[in-house]
Amino acid sequence: MRTPIIAGNWKLNNNPEDTTKFVNAVKDQLPDSNKVESVIAAPAVDLPALLAAAKGSNLHTAAENCYFENSGAFTGETSPQVLNEMGINYVVIGHSERRDYFHETDEDINKKAHAVLDNQMTPIICCGETLETREAGKTEEWVQNQVTAALKELSAQQVAGLVIAYEPIWAIGTGKTATSDQAQEICHVIRETVKDLYDATTSDNVRIQYGGSVKPANVKDLMSKPDIDGGLVGGASLEPESFLQLVNYQD
Ligand code: G3P
Repeated sequence: MRTPIIAGNWKLNNNPEDTTKFVNAVKDQLPDSNKVESVIAAPAVDLPALLAAAKGSNLHTAAENCYFENSGAFTGETSPQVLNEMGINYVVIGHSERRDYFHETDEDINKKAHAVLDNQMTPIICCGETLETREAGKTEEWVQNQVTAALKELSAQQVAGLVIAYEPIWAIGTGKTATSDQAQEICHVIRETVKDLYDATTSDNVRIQYGGSVKPANVKDLMSKPDIDGGLVGGASLEPESFLQLVNYQD
């Protein structure tokens, strides 16, 4: 019922030329979008190249961040309205690197979720705990709070169409993947949180990704779990060959 969604998050990697080369290398070997949605989230400066190369293919496009205002005196920010005008489909918001290095708060993330939806794009809202929180046994509560804050004042219809990415911080770029059971457990908590906040239809429809050292060797196992609908992938999305293995995990 939920279409799987595998998204590469390039972070601060690749220039426009790399972007064009990457897309040309993958675009004819991507699965049909109704089977698995393939997405690349690229740095803002690479988005024109990403859009141009991806045109007419099964590759969906994402920005890695945006601001919550469409225009004004906000030096250095990216307008969600302009992202939509360019043709961008998704925006990653609330990544732990943005929460940590750029001090984004739950409130900022909620405002961004509204702005992305108001501009007809789909947010990929990230959440996840530190190792300290996990070891203190507070993961569930932490993630429930982050999800509740991010979704504040969004309608059931809006939430049913968006994507939530569970990324335990201790598994990001460390090679240390959460086991598929650990990932499933928290993705299930997220779905239950959505059910409590909204209703069963909304929680059945919202797509939940796992992120944190996802690679071709573990993607199938993760995707076999009932509450995991996709992956948000950093390192392993940078090479065309491994990205293709990830999105074609069903073959
Ligand atoms: O957003 C993706 C991410 O933070 C995971 O990165 O390199 O562990 O796949 P990585």
